[in-house]
Amino acid sequence: MSQKVHIFDTTLRDGEQVPGCQLTTREKIEVALELESLGVDIIEAGFPISSPGDFNSVVEIAKAVKEPVVCGLSRCKKEDIDAAAAALKFARRKRIHTGIGASDMHIKNKFNSTRERILEQAVWAVKYARNLVDDVEFYAEDAGRADLDFLCQLTEAVIGAGATVVNIPDTTGYCLPELYGKRIKYVFDHVRNVDQATISVHCHNDLGLATANTLAGITNGARQVEVTINGIGERAGNTSLEEIAMILKVHKDLGYETNIQTQKIYPISRLVAELMHMPVQANKAIVGKHAFAHSSGIHQDGFLKNPENYEIINPNDVGVPNSSIILSARSGRAALRHRLELLGYSFGKTEMDGVYERFLTVADTRKVVENEDLVELLTLMRVERPG
Ligand code: KIV
Ligand code: ZN
Repeated sequence: MSQKVHIFDTTLRDGEQVPGCQLTTREKIEVALELESLGVDIIEAGFPISSPGDFNSVVEIAKAVKEPVVCGLSRCKKEDIDAAAAALKFARRKRIHTGIGASDMHIKNKFNSTRERILEQAVWAVKYARNLVDDVEFYAEDAGRADLDFLCQLTEAVIGAGATVVNIPDTTGYCLPELYGKRIKYVFDHVRNVDQATISVHCHNDLGLATANTLAGITNGARQVEVTINGIGERAGNTSLEEIAMILKVHKDLGYETNIQTQKIYPISRLVAELMHMPVQANKAIVGKHAFAHSSGIHQDGFLKNPENYEIINPNDVGVPNSSIILSARSGRAALRHRLELLGYSFGKTEMDGVYERFLTVADTRKVVENEDLVELLTLMRVERPG
């Protein structure tokens, strides 16, 4: 039987903190409701202490959402934790996500502190938050660069203090998949009370490895993944939800499953891109404009014979209406014939050779040959329009 991987979506917190991506409360509620219908397990709705607007958004999302756990971020500070608890008051299921730097880099250069004091503060914060809510997640910031034995000591201490989830983030996107996976395994092997909490992975994409690292986390025992729609997030972004959901679906043999209703992926990707004014790169996996577009003659011919020759995902499974065949100077006869047939034209072999030759002349002057270009070309060749 497959093991469940919980999807913790942080589009509205890590994603929304990106400059230019800010949303109004109304827009955040719209995204939160779509995340709920997508099937995410936890929605990180914001960082309530950060501004009155963010506080209010968490309040309204907590009221609007029914199924998923609603989560608010805080530092290990009383005022942050109080603000998170207050903002989550109306949530049916609530979680406070609190944490502090775990690497010596952060302990010294950010907190001017010591490992001992950080440990004390973390334990205090988790206990304090647990007095306010039953579900408390702890994040060990910059865990990707932290001393492993200290990371284990911290993890064990916060679980002892009542943390239900411990997040081991690769905050700076520094880790390599194999090493990040080993880090997660080390935590499982060395933290005595690890079975009393869920281990979560939260990866950034500074080296383009966020998805690979998250997968390495899962295969080494993590059962919660922190992700965003379209991979938006601080700097180069976070792990993208759609990539993890589809990796686990395509590779069922790995033995993991999520609640994600994958056919809702593309609509929410469009919604987030539009509301956040953050266009998706054309070749982005799963949701990019070219993710199901075939452009070279060899691929087009194979795709037309059987889509599975070149597609490992049926576009309908992620809510993309159809695959597309782009006509360009790299296209072959098969693709041209297919398009012409869709437009109602049919040609014998010799006629087709003539049309293809003219098509190539046009294609060499354009990046993409559109339907109108084809109709114009055929009109110039005095081919009658189909009735
Ligand atoms: O990247 C990170 O470490 C974070 C924490 C606040 C969880 O976003
Ligand atoms: Zn982050």
